[in-house]
Amino acid sequence: MPSRRLVLFGPPGVGKGTQAVRLREELCVAHISTGDILRDNVKRSTDLGVQAKGFMDAGKLVPDDLVIALVEDRLKADDCKEGFILDGFPRTAEQYDKLDSMLEARGTPVEAVLYFSAPDETLVRRIAGRRMCRDCGATYHVDYSPCKTGDTCEKCGGEVYQRADDNEATVAKRLQEYQAMSAPLLSRYQETGLLAEIDGTLSQEEVFQAALVAIS
Ligand code: AP5
Repeated sequence: MPSRRLVLFGPPGVGKGTQAVRLREELCVAHISTGDILRDNVKRSTDLGVQAKGFMDAGKLVPDDLVIALVEDRLKADDCKEGFILDGFPRTAEQYDKLDSMLEARGTPVEAVLYFSAPDETLVRRIAGRRMCRDCGATYHVDYSPCKTGDTCEKCGGEVYQRADDNEATVAKRLQEYQAMSAPLLSRYQETGLLAEIDGTLSQEEVFQAALVAIS
């Protein structure tokens, strides 16, 4: 039986979201992307979205209390009963500790942590060329996986756009935030024995196959 409670960890643009979608289909578990949930809240101008927008546009992390509350709430949903893929959470020591205690209280600890790695130049190239569907969140890349139907999503017909934070200045800030706030969590995950490192520079298919091996 493969692991069904996963954390996908790694720098911005390394391919966490791309792999999370494939793993969700493979495992039939919930995909919890804090970035997607926050962007949806920004789009709908909810209180959370209004509070988060400035941080996201600047490439900074959204304050812990806001993100932790949204994950806590999301984990209560029925579709998490069979498992979940956390994509982009935890990203700080506070988030790590809160997740640990939340899952311990539920009796559903994380079973595997997949750490995708790639050099900064790969990350910047991927982020600069990324395009997304405004409606279903499908991800494309102008060079590596272009949308065959142009500015209209192949999957749902929604508008394909470039994320507001996918620009050069914001990417540099996001990479800094990752190094300062998130990378230190790696040693903690290493100590748990749950961490599997995967070479994120490989093709999407190769990364997916490596992920399947890691969770099997
Ligand atoms: P979030 O949306 O989580 O952004 P991120 O971590 O910066 O990650 P990305 O979405 O940029 O990259 P990814 O690894 O998912 O790559 P993808 O699969 O798309 O967060 C956005 C913001 O929200 C944050 O800056 C912060 O403000 C806030 N936030 C979110 N979570 C938070 C938290 N926990 N705490 C505080 N704040 C939080 O791939 C990238 C591109 O590469 C795509 O075009 C894809 O097609 C292509 N690609 C993928 N894999 C490959 C491959 N193997 N080969 C070639 N191309 C590939």
